Amino acid sequence: HIEPCVDMLGRPLTDLRISVIDQCNFRCTYCMPAELYPSDYPFLPSSERLSFAQIETMARAFVRLGVDKIRITGGEPLLRKNLEQLIEALAKLTTPDGRAVSIALTTNGSLLAAKAQSLKDAGLERVTVSLDSLDNGIFQRMNGVDFPVEKVLHGIEVAQAVGLTPVKVNMVVQKGVNDSQIVPLARHFRHTGVVLRLIEFMDVGGIGAWSRTHVVTSEAARALIADEFPLVSLGEGKPVSHETASRYRYLDGGGEVGFISSVSQPFCGDCSRVRVSSDGKLFTCLFAQDGLDLRPRLDSAQGLESLLRQHWQRRGDRYSEVRGALAQLGGRKQYPTVRMSLVGG
Ligand code: GTP
Ligand code: 5AD
Ligand code: SF4
Ligand code: SF4
Repeated sequence: HIEPCVDMLGRPLTDLRISVIDQCNFRCTYCMPAELYPSDYPFLPSSERLSFAQIETMARAFVRLGVDKIRITGGEPLLRKNLEQLIEALAKLTTPDGRAVSIALTTNGSLLAAKAQSLKDAGLERVTVSLDSLDNGIFQRMNGVDFPVEKVLHGIEVAQAVGLTPVKVNMVVQKGVNDSQIVPLARHFRHTGVVLRLIEFMDVGGIGAWSRTHVVTSEAARALIADEFPLVSLGEGKPVSHETASRYRYLDGGGEVGFISSVSQPFCGDCSRVRVSSDGKLFTCLFAQDGLDLRPRLDSAQGLESLLRQHWQRRGDRYSEVRGALAQLGGRKQYPTVRMSLVGG
């Protein structure tokens, strides 16, 4: 018998996101702009990262509290050495009622072709790949390191071939930067089994300037796609059961496409996600300022479960829902929040 672990707003804890490294080989303008993250940027030394043993201890406790879905993030998680060993350990976890815990990974795709098979063999279920453009010029400007589109596309194909499916592709849309790529990406991934998801550009921590004027709303993006390829909603235009995306299918059977509307239509009301940064801090919201330092608590499982339960029970975060009100007060977020690359997407 397990007691459900719910927060102050009645939200259960089901989804754990673990950032395994804060470094990345890309410098996406919306996440780690090159001017703010030069090559001598003080990223975490490896000694300050959670070890695989610590991560496993922590994940085990979360699974007892209701987590049945774990996502590995970064920075770029495939830069963490021997990641397969961690995945192998996590993939063995089962929920108190005996179900397998699903393990997914978010990656920029640069190392995916080389690692897809070993990740699959280790027990990874599926991958989500970030890709913001099909046009090389635009993509290279956005990723900040001149990384070519074809290599990411190849990574996606290999991931599909080894069965890390369904592969999802995340596109962060910035007005005037890559909105021209919405329809080309939709066209490219139709009838391939890949689920494209369009994400509204958010004011995440660590990026400096952000303005609502650079956001293309999901409604606008959807209109552009539906104009060429009619869409049918799979959920009354809203995300269902703790998901982030409002899911649609192409009327002609071309597959699925999703819209993540955290700016125009926040989904905090149903948010069951907890995040752990690469230095072991627990964040109950993507836009939290401070996290609870778990490192001193991870040498043994003793007391860990009740600490995590109490922490979740005190949770009242719903940043995306109050963002609008904050903006009216001062035009911009009034306080700095945790850097995205440290806490994960
Ligand atoms: P699946 O649907 O299981 O594939 O996972 P997911 O929806 O959690 O997907 P993913 O990790 O790819 O998240 C996609 C993007 O949505 C993230 O990179 C963020 O930009 C955004 N996102 C995810 N979770 C949250 C959240 O809790 N709050 C906000 N505001 N945005 C989120
Ligand atoms: N706005 C929205 N999503 C972002 N991501 C990173 N920065 C932002 C931002 N400013 C998300 C994207 C990317 C993942 C790694 O993190 O989904 O694919
Ligand atoms: Fe790296 Fe992903 Fe951030 Fe781009 S969005 S800089 S690929 S962590
Ligand atoms: Fe969850 Fe915070 Fe995102 Fe709202 S803003 S959906 S509470 S992580």
